[in-house]
Amino acid sequence: MKIANLVFHPDLSASRVNRIWKEQLESSGKLSSSRDLYAEYPDFQIDVAREQQLLREHDRIIFQFPLYWYSSPPLLKKWLDDVLTYGFAYGSSGKALHGKDLQLLLSVGGDPKYYTGFDIYATLHDLLRPFQLTANLCGMNYMIPQWMYRADQASEETIRASGQEWIDLIDDPARGNGRAYLESEPDSTVI
Ligand SMILES: Cc1cc2nc3c(=O)[nH]c(=O)nc-3n(C[C@H](O)[C@H](O)[C@H](O)COP(=O)(O)O)c2cc1C
Repeated sequence: MKIANLVFHPDLSASRVNRIWKEQLESSGKLSSSRDLYAEYPDFQIDVAREQQLLREHDRIIFQFPLYWYSSPPLLKKWLDDVLTYGFAYGSSGKALHGKDLQLLLSVGGDPKYYTGFDIYATLHDLLRPFQLTANLCGMNYMIPQWMYRADQASEETIRASGQEWIDLIDDPARGNGRAYLESEPDSTVI
């Protein structure tokens, strides 16, 4: 399985979580490619043909990013707008992404209590719904997203432990079908 990691962080040199995760994922040997998109496109002028070719060459696409204003950093949105064109990603002849997997991997500054879904607090699954719908429209398999809360307070040890958790899961073919994967998990025992 060829896995691409696309990292969307405005300044990885100032990042703790995403920089460490990127390095860990790269040294795992499980990725076919790993890229810092903000470094490649500082002027936001995305090379669409190149991005589409790279997508064709991979089976599983990871978007790694910090949660910014309950959403992604803007270059990821621009990348989606530019790269997922009609006739490539959707439309009657737009089948280039069919059957590929989409994995979101994100760092979240807030505490889990702000993502319970109660009252004004949306869950992260709610916030990430546009990515799920996009994957669906493009015929991609939306994998169970992965995230780490309290990103700014996390110790390096905690960041590395979560990074290792992703590495253990990242090439699991079963996770390409998120719903089937969840249903295959044994029910947790509540004591
Ligand atoms: C512009 C900006 C917006 C942010 N918005 C949110 C947010 O909506 N929710 C949240 O929980 N954290 C938010 N944060 C915190 C980031 O998610 C957190 O700093 C980041 O995940 C840490 O990862 P890093 O060490 O790779 O930069 C925001 C941070 C910045 C700089």
